[in-house]
Amino acid sequence: MTQTLLETPEYLVRRPRRNRKDSSIRSLIQETRLHPSNLVAPLFIIEGQNEKQALPSLPGVYRYSVDFLIQEVQELYQLGIRAVDLFPIIPPERKDPFGSESLRPGNLLQTTLEALKREIPEMCLMVDIALDPYTDHGHDGLVTEEGEIDNDTTLDVLAEMSLNAADAGADVIAPSDMMDGRVAHIRHKLDSYGHTNVNILSYAAKYASALYGPFRDTLGSGLKKGDKKSYQMNPANVREALIECTLDELEGADFLMIKPALSYLDVIAKVREQTNLPIAAFHVSGEYAMVLAAAEKGWCDADKVLWEHLTAIKRAGADFILTYAAKGFAKNLLN
Ligand code: PBG
Repeated sequence: MTQTLLETPEYLVRRPRRNRKDSSIRSLIQETRLHPSNLVAPLFIIEGQNEKQALPSLPGVYRYSVDFLIQEVQELYQLGIRAVDLFPIIPPERKDPFGSESLRPGNLLQTTLEALKREIPEMCLMVDIALDPYTDHGHDGLVTEEGEIDNDTTLDVLAEMSLNAADAGADVIAPSDMMDGRVAHIRHKLDSYGHTNVNILSYAAKYASALYGPFRDTLGSGLKKGDKKSYQMNPANVREALIECTLDELEGADFLMIKPALSYLDVIAKVREQTNLPIAAFHVSGEYAMVLAAAEKGWCDADKVLWEHLTAIKRAGADFILTYAAKGFAKNLLN
């Protein structure tokens, strides 16, 4: 090799490729590695029996009735996945402006939690807490007559939902609604009923993203009108995310989540510098679906791209990742 312009000694110049020379060396010095136990599988539940329905905008993902869900959760556990996040799908005739179904004793979420805790107690059960699966307008909170999102009355419903979920066997409560003060409110409610051991995974920095489309298709929770910008964050802001995370930490959150993940890697990295709490990231429906759609056209290899994306999310600072790719990754174990 001829001398470089800066006259760096050759033994240094050749180090980078020396350190990539074969697969043993490469794997020895790999800085980030995914493991099934760092992945959380989001799962959609429907009423009825014997149901496993494919989801058109989320290839490879299904909605299950409880009997089939139990089998699926057992399979996930055998593959090394240690946590699932549950999303009930409510039929439209059961939705109303108040999301009343969310508090009905014996509703789908409660019966599912009870069944899973009974059949596979070792799996960590997370539940998403917000009103959008239950309201006919599709908002995460209650709406006043003037059309405003009513922060404080929503808090009472969220706390009640959280208590019911904890009573039914939830291990982790994950409020995704973005109301102010909900972490403290939920913590207080859980503690007053003796659930001091139930964790709170706060969706601390959740953005008003266009990437939730396939999820809203699946739940039928698309907004009738308007948007969620008065409670979900502006995608252009990162300092605001740090404020949200600080508040949730002070209110008692056990884990902080950033959502979506890929377009917010800088946010994950900045929050990582600020907190010692575990950080979660939600690799959301749109992020997953885009890769699968491109792969269907033959434009990319879905497994490899998903591996690259999930690795990037972990490299940015996430300790665990909620992703629709969890099962596929655990089966194929690229690394
Ligand atoms: C509900 C909720 C949403 C997602 C998770 N919880 C949708 C929304 O806020 O509109 C999105 C998840 C995904 O897209 O995979 N509050």
